[in-house]
Amino acid sequence: MHLVHTGANWRNYWLESLKNGKSIGLVPTMGALHEGHLDLVRKAKQEVDIVVVSIFVNPTQFNNQEDFNNYPSTIDEDLDKLRNEQVDFVFLPDLDTVYPEKPQLSINFGELEAVLEGAFRPGHFNGVGIVVSKLFNIIKPEKAFFGQKDLQQTGIIKRLVKDLSMDVALIIVPTRREEDGLAMSSRNLRLSPDERAQALILIHSLTKAKQELLAGKPWFEVQNQITRDFEDVPLADLEYFELIHPDSFIGYVDFDPNQKSSLCVAAYLGKIRLIDNLPIIP
Ligand code: PAF
Repeated sequence: MHLVHTGANWRNYWLESLKNGKSIGLVPTMGALHEGHLDLVRKAKQEVDIVVVSIFVNPTQFNNQEDFNNYPSTIDEDLDKLRNEQVDFVFLPDLDTVYPEKPQLSINFGELEAVLEGAFRPGHFNGVGIVVSKLFNIIKPEKAFFGQKDLQQTGIIKRLVKDLSMDVALIIVPTRREEDGLAMSSRNLRLSPDERAQALILIHSLTKAKQELLAGKPWFEVQNQITRDFEDVPLADLEYFELIHPDSFIGYVDFDPNQKSSLCVAAYLGKIRLIDNLPIIP
């Protein structure tokens, strides 16, 4: 496994791969790797000849400085895990490599980011759009792999690729869960044992709402009930619980079994903000 720190360094490997007709896949990450990330790596290994995993905690996508400062970092363990998966390259740029200067460009995803994460984390998707564009331009992958857990992020990146005619295929990989159902997330590492136990409210509320909607209960009643359920969990603070179209992210006023739909939730457990989502009609 090669560690690569700059675009110039990667360029030589890229030229070599091109000459040998090898396809390249990128798994962009911010480190603190868990089985969810490794699922992306395993999918990439099946799909392309050469797998590059990037590890870069991107400051421009954090709208909360404390969240950025406390973002978990487990680089030695990360590299061991990637070696075990026989990853070919790890791209580990430093801040100046990715941001030689503060970008003047900003990306506005319009209606796509007017709701959910975009509404609650102003500037977040601009930061994601900028860094993902940079990583695509530096690594030049044929395919890139992202997790379904960040549903709105996958929609934003699909749109980025389409609007800028980027030549990269996006592969979205299902959410990996702990045995008890909690969606895997690097931020789970920061939960206290009590917060970890109470974090199950996210997946429990999603599955309960899905069952009730499929059984015919009106959406406004379901949403009110879930809001009350959160009030009974002392360490949880609900930010949003929405029923949306999984491509446009526009919220529904009621459930329609003939339309694609997903449930999305964001909540704080103590100071840790977690998100999750569940498709109802994929
Ligand atoms: O999903 C993430 O971990 C990040 O948002 C990404 C795509 C690596 C960009 O920094």
